Amino acid sequence: MNTESNPEIAQPVKSYPKRKVWMKTYGCQMNYHDSERVMDHLGELNFTPTEDQNEADLILFNTCSIRDLANQKFYSHLGETKRIKEAKGEKVVIGVGGCIAQVEGKELVKKYRHLDFAFGTDVIDQIGDFVFRSFSGDSKFAVNTWDRSTNYSIETKITHDEPRAFVNIIKGCNKVCSYCIVPFTRGKERSRKVSEVRDDIKKLVEHRGVQEITLLGQNVNSFGKDNGETLTELVGELEKVNGLHVLRYTTSHPYDVSDELIAAHGWSTKLAPHLHLPVQSGSTTVLKRMRREYTKDHYLGLLEKLRASKPGIVVSSDIIVGFPNETDDEFADTIDLLNRAEFDFIYSYTYSERKGTRASRMDDTLTDKIKSERLQFLQKHQLEIQKNLRTQMVGKRYLVWVDGDSNMGGVYKLKGRTPCYRIVHFEPPVSGGELKDFKWHWMEVEVSGATALSAQAKVIKDWGINPPTIH
Ligand code: SAH
Ligand code: SF4
Ligand code: F3S
Repeated sequence: MNTESNPEIAQPVKSYPKRKVWMKTYGCQMNYHDSERVMDHLGELNFTPTEDQNEADLILFNTCSIRDLANQKFYSHLGETKRIKEAKGEKVVIGVGGCIAQVEGKELVKKYRHLDFAFGTDVIDQIGDFVFRSFSGDSKFAVNTWDRSTNYSIETKITHDEPRAFVNIIKGCNKVCSYCIVPFTRGKERSRKVSEVRDDIKKLVEHRGVQEITLLGQNVNSFGKDNGETLTELVGELEKVNGLHVLRYTTSHPYDVSDELIAAHGWSTKLAPHLHLPVQSGSTTVLKRMRREYTKDHYLGLLEKLRASKPGIVVSSDIIVGFPNETDDEFADTIDLLNRAEFDFIYSYTYSERKGTRASRMDDTLTDKIKSERLQFLQKHQLEIQKNLRTQMVGKRYLVWVDGDSNMGGVYKLKGRTPCYRIVHFEPPVSGGELKDFKWHWMEVEVSGATALSAQAKVIKDWGINPPTIH
């Protein structure tokens, strides 16, 4: 039958009205990845994204509860949406998902009269049902059940057409770090199968032109434990995927970094020469109170092995300053670790008490003033270390992948990252060239200057969108 001649068959009637969704995401890469999943599902219901909250039919927040600041920001943004609801009435639906919704969704829905529904971290694939329910007039509900199926199986959803993508491989966290809320907000560890992840990634590479993948999880080093598989096996499988050029994984827990994985950094042609390995503190006694399961020496030993396996590998980290009763000596141990570890960059925070965690039950003698003074000192010290490291880049050549641009002091520059994740700025290879002409090109550059946070360079060669051998 010629369907072209029958418009009813050739163009199926859209069953959902055209609607707009505004969404705000807080927190980690996992949350941003989840938001992409939510947007993909909503696309199937004929929603398109908008940046303007006032024209949205649906307002969604994907929340984070890792530190008090993240919580406060969300509460104030949610409060502001009351005005929109009052102006538009039932025509706008407001929902809250993510880590705060997992733990306090029911209270939120009760407390904020303008909030229609809340959904936890393990039910995001049901977002279509929740939205449908709300638009049908059945609102004021909260769902925070855990998915109890034995097999964690998904397909990655990406809503962009960029060649860089995140792929979730494990959810939840079985660790019991005493300061951390994540085990409460994300539940128990569950891994996808190696074969499923490999096929998923193959599709992204073959059909969506993806060249760089970041494997995601709260503790990716625990990947596969529930299925008798390992992250190293997955790296081995991905080694065979033609067209995949760079492989990263985040976040790692030092306790679970195996010798096999360290060796993989040596033999893999895809693993990026960069690892984010959060240490949290350089004091063995604080690490014990944090229940991190390793010592300062063990951590430094891991770095030594990694650097022997992959010379020049760049390492970054997370630090918490002012954990309950951290002494001057314990803090000094963290500074000593920074000196010895030579991290390329760090994310650093003052300790934030989280309700329900073990650390929240510890008596704490530290004042906010001491905590913030320590944080300032540590950040300043780390910037000195970084400046030294970046200065060593001067005169050397690097391959960078162009992903943005900037206008520094009136000079237009392209911005790219090295596979070891360092930011480099440089003028386009042709005068008047813009980002649209060079986005996702691989370029060889020579570094001419550096600060603690980035490097300046000049282009030696534009390789176009396909890189030469990377590592
Ligand atoms: N799974 C990752 C970390 C996830 S949370 C890991 O184990 O490394 C991201 C970072 O937030 C942590 O590394 C830690 O540095 C910080 N963080 C977590 N809980 C915190 C708290 N209560 N106060 C301050 N920082 C915290
Ligand atoms: Fe939190 Fe520790 Fe799990 Fe990381 S490993 S998510 S810090 S409990
Ligand atoms: Fe925040 Fe949840 Fe991620 S608490 S850091 S969004 S796992």
